[in-house]
Amino acid sequence: MSVVDEVKERLDIVEVIQSYVPLKKAGRNYKGLCPFHAEKTPSFVVFPDSGTWHCFGACGTGGDVFTFVMKRENLDFGEALAMLARRAGVELTPRSPQAAEADQRLDLLREINQATALYYHHLLLNSAGAARALSYMEGRGFSRDTLERFQVGYAPERWDGLLRYLTGKGYAAADLAEAGVISERDDGSGYHDRFRRRIIFPIRDQQGRTIGFGGRILSEGTPKYLNSPQTPLFDKSSVLYGLDLARQGIRAAGAAVIVEGYTDVLMAHQYGLNNVVAQMGTALTEQQLKLLKRLTSRFVLALDPDAAGDQATLRGLDVARQVMDRDVVPVRTANELIRFGDRLAADIQIVALPAGLDPDEVIRDDPAEWARLVAEAQPIMDYYLQALTAGLDLTTAEGKREAVQRLDPLLTELGDWTLRMHYVQQLARMIQVDDRVLWEQIRRGAAGRKAQPRPAQPEARAKTAERRALGVDEHCLASLLAHPHLFAAVDEALRSGGEAGVEAEDLGQTQDRAIFAAWRGWLEGGGAPDARAGFCDTLDGRLQERAGYLLDALARQPEVPDDLVRDTVTGDVIRLRLQNLRRKIGEMRFLQQDAQATGDRQGAMAYGGLIREMHTRIGRLEKVVDERTMMGRRRREDAAVRVFTPGE
Ligand code: UTP
Ligand code: MN
Repeated sequence: MSVVDEVKERLDIVEVIQSYVPLKKAGRNYKGLCPFHAEKTPSFVVFPDSGTWHCFGACGTGGDVFTFVMKRENLDFGEALAMLARRAGVELTPRSPQAAEADQRLDLLREINQATALYYHHLLLNSAGAARALSYMEGRGFSRDTLERFQVGYAPERWDGLLRYLTGKGYAAADLAEAGVISERDDGSGYHDRFRRRIIFPIRDQQGRTIGFGGRILSEGTPKYLNSPQTPLFDKSSVLYGLDLARQGIRAAGAAVIVEGYTDVLMAHQYGLNNVVAQMGTALTEQQLKLLKRLTSRFVLALDPDAAGDQATLRGLDVARQVMDRDVVPVRTANELIRFGDRLAADIQIVALPAGLDPDEVIRDDPAEWARLVAEAQPIMDYYLQALTAGLDLTTAEGKREAVQRLDPLLTELGDWTLRMHYVQQLARMIQVDDRVLWEQIRRGAAGRKAQPRPAQPEARAKTAERRALGVDEHCLASLLAHPHLFAAVDEALRSGGEAGVEAEDLGQTQDRAIFAAWRGWLEGGGAPDARAGFCDTLDGRLQERAGYLLDALARQPEVPDDLVRDTVTGDVIRLRLQNLRRKIGEMRFLQQDAQATGDRQGAMAYGGLIREMHTRIGRLEKVVDERTMMGRRRREDAAVRVFTPGE
């Protein structure tokens, strides 16, 4: 039996969970108020028979005793295992010698960082040389208590104070350097203190262990803040300053407020606003938001209004991201934030600060004003709708065009169609155009943008160019109108995956569906495939116009070999079908949860069955896609062999 199983067997899940959440017996199971979201009627259920729990309410989460403790205590699996094993009286076998050694190494580096924090903190509060630093901080309104809680320190103007102190305590210089608190001299002749004449902000991980530092210059000078280098402990992109002290506050408030700087966090906490953390000046990363996601799914970003609203800044950051060769995903740009909120199902809101003021100043001047600003934070899309149209004259054609151009990339990031529709309608109202026209334009813009960044092989380039002006589904419909013989190939591919042939529902727009249905009807009714003009005459005026538009756009595309058109359209139709199935699963899931929440077990089971069925269909279709890709590759290889085989 594994340790995990043993722990599970020895522990009573009801007892463990009951130590966090009051539970009431309900039949064989236990019910209570979900500890992971706010609710009035209990929808959190513990199933002792299977050793699992599930929230049938808004958060819809569930798992076993480990996942519960991980989520509740904000631990990783190893930590939860250690905790529960202790509780169950199960001995954990020691880890491998290498892992143990690596752990010891990290412990040593943490110890060094901790000793450094204490050293500088002691100097700030007690040394004569720090008098100016201390009065500077007090002058900015920071209390003794705050300086102590955050262990703020001072690094005096010396090259070797810390070095001497720590080597005197027996630490090796090489270890101090690895911990990031001293640096190698330029000429390689030894080491010197990394921080000099700086106010020191120890940066702690979420468990409160010091892992690095930010050092603010006392007067003018560059850099304004010097941070610890990247070390085995410290990776700026995955840490949030103040998280150790903000965890409970974030849970209690149901929201995390994210500011830019160390001093902002200090001031917020000083005034009891203890759900505030800082991203430390870099772009907010996905890793950072994931840390917070364990505590809440509502994030409030306090942004400098100029930085947030300025298109140049947005574009600038985009560019910066492209040149930065890093594997983290900074999500500072509006696009990225929106995409991210979408993916994480996080509710990202923005609070615009009064121009020219940092949060620390706003809070210090009037904490109630800060509370009001945060309470009035806007959902990110609402915020950008305002920020990016401010200063434009929306009654002029030029102003309207500019507004659409600025917002269109953001709107297309919204994966949720209801949301997208909502905001497209809102923008349409703002600029007073018909929302269908706007919708069309935005969709077309997105197709163009998405088609761009993959040049690769000439074949792919041909496909890209061909599709640029039309959306994928538009291109499919246009091709089927222009080349009705494609129906056979497309239908056959779909049927080989157990699906019905291409159908109106594969297309996105109502009018395209109508054209498609009429075209299929025309062909099946014995209408001549080449009598397209005759067919178009049978359509109503709007549809006729639309069909004409699609055919024109297709005709303007460069000539592409027949078999390539066939492959492209077939592949695209399969992808459209897959997309539809996936979307439907999302809807079914929702219905299923809803049924569960209202106690409709039969309904929930029925939806479950439908979901499984759709998964099966997706699996079959994906196999068809795989086979087709392989066939395509083989065909290209064959062609290459033919070219290179002499004598043929
Ligand atoms: P700011 O320049 O806004 O500083 O940078 P601040 O926090 O408001 O500091 P005060 O109030 O002037 O004393 C915001 C954050 O960006 C990071 C720091 O984390 C800082 O708190 N930063 C800034 C750096 O890492 N390096 C820099 O050179 C500047
Ligand atoms: Mn500031």
